[in-house]
Parts: sequence; structure tokens; C-alpha cells
Amino acid sequence: MQNPFKGGFKIDFYTNQSKIKWFILVVALIIGSGSIIYTDQLVDRLKEGEEEKIELWAKAIEFSGSVLADESSLTFITNNIITPSNTLPVILVDSASQEILLSRNVVDSLSSTSQREIQLETTLEKMKRENKPFTIMVRNANDGSISDIQYVYYRNSYILRQLRAYPFIQLSVIAIFAFIAYLAFSYSRTAEQNRVWVGMAKETAHQLGTPLSSLMAWMEYIRAMPEMKEKEEVIIELDKDIERLERITSRFSNIGSVPVLKNEPVYEVVNNCLNYLRPRLSSKVIMNVETDMHDLKAKINKPLFEWVIENIVKNGVDAMSGIGNINVTIGLESSNEVFVDISDDGKGIPKGKVKNVFKPGFTTKKRGWGLGLALAKRIIENYHQGKIFVKSSHADVGTTFRIVLIYKDI
Ligand SMILES: Nc1ncnc2c1ncn2[C@@H]1O[C@H](COP(=O)(O)OP(=O)(O)OP(=O)(O)O)[C@@H](O)[C@H]1O
Ligand SMILES: [Mg+2]
Repeated sequence: MQNPFKGGFKIDFYTNQSKIKWFILVVALIIGSGSIIYTDQLVDRLKEGEEEKIELWAKAIEFSGSVLADESSLTFITNNIITPSNTLPVILVDSASQEILLSRNVVDSLSSTSQREIQLETTLEKMKRENKPFTIMVRNANDGSISDIQYVYYRNSYILRQLRAYPFIQLSVIAIFAFIAYLAFSYSRTAEQNRVWVGMAKETAHQLGTPLSSLMAWMEYIRAMPEMKEKEEVIIELDKDIERLERITSRFSNIGSVPVLKNEPVYEVVNNCLNYLRPRLSSKVIMNVETDMHDLKAKINKPLFEWVIENIVKNGVDAMSGIGNINVTIGLESSNEVFVDISDDGKGIPKGKVKNVFKPGFTTKKRGWGLGLALAKRIIENYHQGKIFVKSSHADVGTTFRIVLIYKDI
């Protein structure tokens, strides 16, 4: 039956999906950097305002110490500029002795003298790192000559510092939340997919079961008919078809329930499967199994595992357009794992497509459903707790799929 999703659509779905992912990522980056840049501009403007305040404060101190200041302007400056408590932390330091002359909004009034000293020192260090100080020229009251130079060190207000960190905190919180939401959605999507797979398989097995048992009963009836004695070949062919139907039913019924895994000899299972497939495929396809370990056993559910081998071999045959070799190698992957490598000498999978081949619906074939490898992955990973992946694939050289199964010694 032809796939209803018409040619290119199936691949486009995955190309589009990755385009959508990129689009979301780019939009998220634009929003993120936009909000960082905007807050940065706000912070810069606030910072300018704060610096102007500090400069004014420094100038006021400079002026109040100069000869030009008369009594009334001094009072005005002290009351309106120097004393009013704004929240900016400031420390006035003598340039020569490096002694702290004055500080504002740095130490809290409740701490002890020694604590205050430590607070002052550490804050001064921070201030030195953060901003360049304003310089104050202290002039001699008599002749106006410079008698001392002092520095005004300052920090930006607490609010401004917080505002600078705000977009980063906000974006991190959003990113964490989005990640958790993504995990939750993908978990529920997987659970939903599982239910659909299992439900469909159960239903199919159930629907096939009834006509199959009826067919078997009819077979016994036909076998017993005297006129069928000369038509042995009809009985043989009918038997083969019934066996094929039984195979399909048992696959669906196994995938629709918790499968029973048994210690099966891997070589024998694979070899039997290839023997079953050989007459059904082109005679120009040569299939071989190689191993030094014929008795190696692994935990296998036979009907399901055979289904996997069949899907991979059929893909291999499709890739070589009917003529070529399929080689299966069996060996030990690790102390408790067996590998089964299935290689073909077909056209290979393009590099960019390798990550898609196990996704349901991905196909490059006109009459493909894109379900063969999705099913294989499901069977190996969910039902056998094993692994399946493309071990290698090169254009016009061929492809090797590796299946890793849990091995159990006899
Ligand atoms: N051995 C291989 N060599 C080259 N390409 C392969 C091979 N195996 C799989 N592919 C690629 O992966 C795609 C998906 O394979 P899959 O078996 O899942 O679906 P399908 O064979 O297209 O359809 P069906 O559902 O009938 O199996 C194929 O269409 C093909 O492009
Ligand atoms: Mg296939």
C-alpha cells in the first residue's frame, strides 16, 4: 500500500521540525539579548545620574573647604547637598596618607568599631575595583594654594546593582521552567505513544486471532478430504501461509504485552531468520552469518527479535536495489553484552539523515512507512533493554547496524 503522506512530506516533517527548533532558539536568543541590552541601557542612564550626584557631592565638599565659601552658602551646601541622606555609599580618602576621612552609607550603625573598620576596608577595595574616584583639591584658606588632595570613592546603589543582575536571574528562571515544562511534555508524549503502539498491536493480534483459528480448523477439514490426497502441494502452500499469519499474529501479540525474554542461542535465531527470508528475497542477495561463538546465548523474545532482523535486512536489500551482500557478525560486546552487526553494501545513509532513521515516519522510499527502524528501536530498547544504532554508513560502500543484547552465560 502506498504511503498516503505523498513523497517528500515525510522527510520534510523532520527537516521542518529541526527548522522550528532553530527558529525557537533564535527567537529566544533575540528576546534574551534584547532584554539584557535594554536593562543595560537603563542601568547606564541610572549610573550617569548617580555619578552626577557623587560629583556634586565631591564638588560641594571641595567648595565648602575653600576660601570662597561664606558662612551662609556653607550652611546651604551642608544642609542641602552634603548631609541629605541619599543611598549611595561613599568614602572620602586622603591621597597622601590613604586614611579614610569620611564615609556614608557604608557601615551600619549597629556594628562594633572593629566590625566597622573591616566593613570600611572591604567596601573601599570593592569601590576601587568598580569605579574611578573623583578628586577633591583641598585649598589653603589663606592663599588658595592646594594643601591636600582627597579622593571620593563610591559604589553604585544597591538597586542599580540588582537591576544589572535582574535580566540574568529572570532569564535563568524562565530557562529552567521551560526545560522542566519540555521534559514534562515529552514524558507525557512518550507515554501517549506507548499507549498507541501497545493498543494498536493488541487490537491487531486480537483481530487476526479469530480468522486464524478458524482457518486452522478448516485446514484440518481440508486435509482429511480424500480428493486432496493428490493435491499435496496445495496443502503445503496453505500451511506456509498459515504459518506466516501465525508469525505476524505472535509478533503483534508480543509487542502488545510484557514480552517474555528467554536465553536463546543468537546464531541459531539469526540463521533461522535468514533462512526464512532467503527464498522471499531476490536470489541475487547473498546473506551470511559469521561468528566464532555459535553457542552464545542472549535474552531474546524470538518473534520480536526476528521482526527486527527482518526489518534491518529488508532495508539493506532496498538500499542495494536487489543485488549485493548482507553480512551478519555476532560477538561479545562486553562481559555481559552480545552484539549483532548487520552490514549491507548498499548506497549508505547520508550523514545528516543518520539521526533521523529511527524516528517514526521518516522514510526516503516511495512506498515506505518509515516504521521499520522505529519499531526495531522500540523492540530492542524497550523490550530487550538493549541498544541499536548505526555503527557506520558510507555513501555507496554500505551501512552497518549494531544491536546490543544482554548476554547470559549458559
Ligand atoms: N541499510 C540502509 N541503507 C540506506 N538507508 C537506510 C538503510 N536502512 C534505513 N535506511 C533509511 O532509513 C529510512 C527509514 O527506514 P525504515 O525501515 O524505518 O523505514 P522504511 O524502510 O522507509 O519504511 P518501512 O516502514 O516500510 O520499513 C529509509 O527510508 C532509508 O532512507
Ligand atoms: Mg524499512
